[in-house]
Amino acid sequence: MVGDVVGKPGLKAVREFVPKLRTELKLDLVIANGENTANGIGMTPDTVQDLYGSGVDVITSGNHAWSKREIIPYPESELPLIRPMNYPPGVPGHGYTFCKGALVVNIMGRVFMPSVDDPFRALDGLLEEVGHRTKVVIVDAHTEATSEIGALGWYFDGRVSAVLGTHTHIGTTDGRVLPKGTAFISDIGMAGPRDSVIGNVPEDVLKRFMTQLYSPLGVADGPVIFSSVLLDIDANTGKAKSIQRIDREAP
Ligand SMILES: [Fe+2]
Ligand SMILES: [Fe+2]
Repeated sequence: MVGDVVGKPGLKAVREFVPKLRTELKLDLVIANGENTANGIGMTPDTVQDLYGSGVDVITSGNHAWSKREIIPYPESELPLIRPMNYPPGVPGHGYTFCKGALVVNIMGRVFMPSVDDPFRALDGLLEEVGHRTKVVIVDAHTEATSEIGALGWYFDGRVSAVLGTHTHIGTTDGRVLPKGTAFISDIGMAGPRDSVIGNVPEDVLKRFMTQLYSPLGVADGPVIFSSVLLDIDANTGKAKSIQRIDREAP
C-alpha cells in the first residue's frame, strides 16, 4: 500500500515505482490513498485514472475525498474507489470494496479531524455485516493523531489483517505485526515532492503559519519520494506475517 499520493509529483512517483515493484515483489494487490492527487487537494476522474493506469488496484481516500466536486459521481459506480466509511449517512460513495479476495476498508479518525462517526464502532459494524466474506481485511485508517491510530490498531488486532495509517504524509518507523496478527503502522507516508511541507511549497506554508492569514498552498516540485509498505498476509487465516517499509526516491 502506498500512502497519500500528492499532486503531479506523487502521480509521477507512483508511475515510476508501482509497475517495477509489482514485478519485483510479485504483488497481488496494490492500494494507494488518492485524496491529494488533484493538485494536492481531492481527486478528479483524470487523477484516479492515472493511478489505475499505473497499476493501482484500489484507491482509498480521506477528509479530502470530495474536495473536487467532479469526482463525486465516481464512487457511486463500481470503481474500486472508496472514502472513509464513518462519514455520516447520506454522504456519497462507499467505505469499503472487495478486490482480489481482500476486503479493503477506509475509516477516518476524529482527533484533529472532521467530526465523523465513531471509527471503532463503525468498523465493528462492518466486520459483523460483511466480515464473513473474506479473511483478508486491509484497513486504511486516515488519522492525524498517533494515539488514535495506535488505539485502532490494538482494538482491531486479530480481527483484521492490517491497520495502516494515512493522512499525515509523514512515514513512521513503528511498522510491526501486533500480537494477534494485525500488521500496523502509524503512517505510511506520502508519494510526493521531497522538498516540501507535507507536499506543499515551504514558503506557502510558512506564510500561513507566520501571518495566520489564508494563502493558497501550491504543490512543491523537484525530487520525489515514494512511501509504501509491503504486507505479507496468509490468505487462509487473514493473519499478517510481516510488514516492511518500501521507500524510494527519484530525481
Ligand atoms: Fe492527505
Ligand atoms: Fe487527509
